Amino acid sequence: MIAPIRKAVFPVAGLGTRFLPATKAMPKEMLTVVDKPVIQHVVDEARAAGIEHFIFVTGRNKSVIEDHFDRQIELEQALKERGKTEELEALEAGLPGPGQTSFTRQQAPLGLGHAVWCARDLVGNEPFALLLPDVLVQSSGNTCLAQLMDIYNTSGGNVIAVEEVPENMTHQYGVVDIESGEGSSQKVKGMIEKPAPGTAPSNLIIMGRYLLQPEIFNILEAQERGTGGEIQITDAMIALLESQPFTAAKYEGKSFDCGSKAGFLAANIAFALTRPDLRPALLQEIQKLS
Ligand code: UTP
Repeated sequence: MIAPIRKAVFPVAGLGTRFLPATKAMPKEMLTVVDKPVIQHVVDEARAAGIEHFIFVTGRNKSVIEDHFDRQIELEQALKERGKTEELEALEAGLPGPGQTSFTRQQAPLGLGHAVWCARDLVGNEPFALLLPDVLVQSSGNTCLAQLMDIYNTSGGNVIAVEEVPENMTHQYGVVDIESGEGSSQKVKGMIEKPAPGTAPSNLIIMGRYLLQPEIFNILEAQERGTGGEIQITDAMIALLESQPFTAAKYEGKSFDCGSKAGFLAANIAFALTRPDLRPALLQEIQKLS
């Protein structure tokens, strides 16, 4: 039987150095894409895929993320009194239910793999979703994570989202080697983190959405630091691949790397252009710039 995936882990303990000075006192996950913090977009994606419990791995100076997913009674009261129903509904829609969130701290930013390992007790012995808030995906149908869930419900094992990039960019990412074949999902043969230029096994990169089996925690527990002196999730997945299947999912949608300034700005424009209340005015403003 394929065990259902009920929990999602959100690693939000990174320092966000690429956005300084904006992220000196504010977590980069709270930067807004249109009118929602990046982390809210990702939590919404997880909820739409059926996730019931949201686990945040935070760090110092990140407590505003916890506040964001709590009620704000005075604000709600004020909105009610002023008849601002739409705003009130938007607040309610973004809020996980009582007991649906957990927060733990990664005491030092030792890498993504280490951040995931910090969630081991909260996840327990069941498969879980891992979503990197740096990546936002715009899709016309099901969300990226929901597409992975569909594949998982047939394949079981581990499922990772992949996307094609130009060959000269593969050295910046984790790259998968897949068995040949058509279709949106393929068996993974191998993986490598940040291969030297010209040595990548394919142009398919791992892009921030994962469904993982709990055995990954045992591997992370014993893992040494890898590329960049950090404990890498890709290295742990490479070890897990020796005993468990991995499926690479080429999802439908456009991804934005919100961990980079250009990707973050592009996400703001792309998400705003899908909003009927903003599109006409934004197009006008953009035209004025050229
Ligand atoms: P990044 O390496 O992109 O995040 O990690 P960063 O370190 O915050 O960014 P820069 O490069 O300094 O600007 C991807 C995700 O993993 C989390 C980050 O918060 C981000 O969501 N992360 C990374 C951790 O939680 N802990 C870590 O030790 C490293």
